[in-house]
Amino acid sequence: MKAVHLKGVSFTYRGSGVPALRCLEYAQEVGEFAVLGGRSGAGKSTLCKAIMGIVPTLQRGEMEGEVRVLGRKIEGLRPFQVSRWAGLVFQDFEAQLFSTSVELEVAFGPENLGLSRGEVERRIRESLRAVGLEGFERREPWTLSGGEKQRLAIASVLAMGPPVLVLDEPTTDIDPLGREEIHRVVKELKSKGHTVLLVEHEVGEVEDADSLVLMSEGKVVWKGKMGKADSELLASCGVRPPEPWALAFHLGVPPLGPEGMASEIERVLGGRLEEVRRRWRETVDEGATPGDVVLEVRDVEYSYPSSQAQALKGVSLEVGEGEFMAVLGPNGSGKSTLAKIMAGLLSPSSGSVLLRGRPVRPGKVGYVFQNPDQQLFAPTVWEEVAFGPRNMGVRGGELEDSVEEALEAVGLSGYKDRDPFSLSRGERQRLAVASVLACSPEVLILDEPTTGLDYEEQRRMMEFLREWNLKGRTVVLITHSMWVAAKYARRCALLLDGRIVADGPTREIFSREDLLSLAHLKPPFVTQVGARLGMPFLSLDEALEALRN
Ligand SMILES: Nc1ncnc2c1ncn2[C@@H]1O[C@H](COP(=O)(O)OP(=O)(O)OP(=O)(O)O)[C@@H](O)[C@H]1O
Ligand SMILES: [Mg+2]
Repeated sequence: MKAVHLKGVSFTYRGSGVPALRCLEYAQEVGEFAVLGGRSGAGKSTLCKAIMGIVPTLQRGEMEGEVRVLGRKIEGLRPFQVSRWAGLVFQDFEAQLFSTSVELEVAFGPENLGLSRGEVERRIRESLRAVGLEGFERREPWTLSGGEKQRLAIASVLAMGPPVLVLDEPTTDIDPLGREEIHRVVKELKSKGHTVLLVEHEVGEVEDADSLVLMSEGKVVWKGKMGKADSELLASCGVRPPEPWALAFHLGVPPLGPEGMASEIERVLGGRLEEVRRRWRETVDEGATPGDVVLEVRDVEYSYPSSQAQALKGVSLEVGEGEFMAVLGPNGSGKSTLAKIMAGLLSPSSGSVLLRGRPVRPGKVGYVFQNPDQQLFAPTVWEEVAFGPRNMGVRGGELEDSVEEALEAVGLSGYKDRDPFSLSRGERQRLAVASVLACSPEVLILDEPTTGLDYEEQRRMMEFLREWNLKGRTVVLITHSMWVAAKYARRCALLLDGRIVADGPTREIFSREDLLSLAHLKPPFVTQVGARLGMPFLSLDEALEALRN
């Protein structure tokens, strides 16, 4: 008996002309841990929802074929009936949370399974511990930070202890060490006999899964052992090839850890290492020095009205004209709070924020929300983008122009009349950016602009920001994606528990593994390898360039 078995499954969402799944065949053994990758729109979430019976029961459409979970036919069952055997952590995890406290949120599932009070309490404790949310029991879910909410969504499914666990991009908003922790919990469940299907863009982060599954255009196009998928295959399915594999492939050595890889490179280069290092030093570009201070944060403290704890405990920061800086730090460290204060959307409890020497006012500093859906509300794409400038008094031809320009900048010119919520996550993210750009902000702050995007969309978003920055504009980026920060930001500030603990050029910050791990971060693999060779590379391209010939 298979844990999951889909035979000839096709599904088309009601109102959509394009099938999300096309005669899909998929099987997973009991106790197998599979990682699923593929472009956005490939059908990954629809596959997850088909396993739960969410399509076609809750989200309607045309369905064909057969879905079985642990041998049982799912057809005709309601998702809550399926939840005895299978549990799903939604990609859109905020939509999953509905209770008035963290504890009640986690208790809901086990209580519905009819478990005893004692058992329910044990499960609450264990699953909150597994996701690092001990002490959050009485908090209201809506007051949690982005990553804390995602951790809660995972805990509430873990608490049900389903034999089949389906996780749809469960760590997009979780800090790097937290992601490792969640992956460890998942592996532990696997070792206890649970079957796991994990949708993940960064497949290299779960290298020890039993299998890798790749989807494209509604079909499973490849399934095999993790290490058997080469970079080309991954790239053809829109998945970023893991840096250890890519580096190993280029050097013709087996994939190794950072230490092993560094020694291997030393061995291969032999006496030429010094020369390579010298040439690398000559070519590295540490970026332009920033211009005058445009935005200044002075001794800012902040406490949320509903909370005793301070989210920011005295933050000072100067952002120079034309800078591209990243703010990094663990979940709940205060990044989004700081961003909202810098944008004038929250007023500090004490301290001040100055834009070119004057108190900041909303609109002048653009803020793109962590979740674009919290920002979008208009009936059409055009109206969405026009809202900001219109509010600032822009009218007529000038309004038309700023909307056109902003849509053009993010590649959404052809989408003017579309309903924002009919767009894909990547498109909604770009729309959110356009609606802020249209206000011609002096500084653009983006809160995790690459979450939920596939590799190509992430690159497109980041290349766009790079271009925009090269025109002299100022960008502040908040991200948990280490390769994105390393490759694109020229300066990084680390926020830890409401305080800035380090601030400096990206290469310098990323060379300090001990400091980063304090902030739950980890440099990209190529940086770790390079640091051991005295050349802390900031991207795979840079590493390959230096090591070529
Ligand atoms: N509306 C709110 N009410 C009360 N406390 C809040 C609220 N929003 C955030 N907090 C708390 O303030 C602290 C900082 O939260 P913030 O959202 O700034 O973190 P973050 O660094 O952006 O985290 P993440 O990486 O998870 O997005 C956290 O302890 C969080 O739980
Ligand atoms: Mg945040």
